[in-house]
Amino acid sequence: MPENHVIRARELTRAYRHGSAQVIGIDRVDLEIGAGEMVVLKGNSGSGKSTLLSLLAGLDRPSSGDLVVAAHDLVRISEKRLTHFRRKAIGMVFQSFNLLPTLTVLENACLPALLAGLSFPEIAPRAEELLGWLHLDHRLTHLPAQLSGGEMQRTAIARALINDPAIILADEPTGNLDSRNGEAVMALLSELNRAWQRTVIVATHSSLADPYATRQINLRDGRIADQT
Ligand SMILES: Nc1ncnc2c1ncn2[C@@H]1O[C@H](COP(=O)(O)OP(=O)(O)OP(=O)(O)O)[C@@H](O)[C@H]1O
Ligand SMILES: [Mg+2]
Repeated sequence: MPENHVIRARELTRAYRHGSAQVIGIDRVDLEIGAGEMVVLKGNSGSGKSTLLSLLAGLDRPSSGDLVVAAHDLVRISEKRLTHFRRKAIGMVFQSFNLLPTLTVLENACLPALLAGLSFPEIAPRAEELLGWLHLDHRLTHLPAQLSGGEMQRTAIARALINDPAIILADEPTGNLDSRNGEAVMALLSELNRAWQRTVIVATHSSLADPYATRQINLRDGRIADQT
């Protein structure tokens, strides 16, 4: 594998059992993504975008094929190593933010670092710095229910960054935001890509990411239909 490829998939397939039938999520996908790319993943509902992101994130396992992400063989990896990979190598951002409602903004941002074994005093200064960069310094002790949608998504971005992952995966990150907040989130993801040299993959129906993308991949029925 050339050194600059952070993701390489070969014949990557994820099929789901549904009673006696089989539903194809991702179908024999070949894909190489280089370090520092910002890829926009498009395709109709059900085309396999979320399935592909879940596989890349190590949240789900392939049915067949090969998948190497950040030098980890995600087909042959042990559960223990996979948990470590998910926490260290990947930052994820979701449409529904997925914040824990009983934790403050600061605590939500710290959570992946706490799960990785750091103490709150060890990680809080870094979290505060990230939250400051995301213009949330005045919201540290707020609960998610006390935030706007844009603030919730920025909190989720801080959480995605806390363990300093090389790869950021975003699944429809602007789906619950108005256009102004949506634009702000896409601009942030682009800054992570350009200024912080993170590899960013965004699955989205919206065109907000288009100006920032280094590559667009269109999925259809679980297959790559075309790339530009
Ligand atoms: N857990 C599951 N069990 C069974 N089938 C599933 C499961 N998850 C996804 N699928 C199926 O896999 C296919 C791809 O779904 P996926 O969620 O990846 O699409 P998507 O492109 O993200 O769609 P959307 O734009 O609506 O988010 C669909 O046919 C879907 O029904
Ligand atoms: Mg989806």
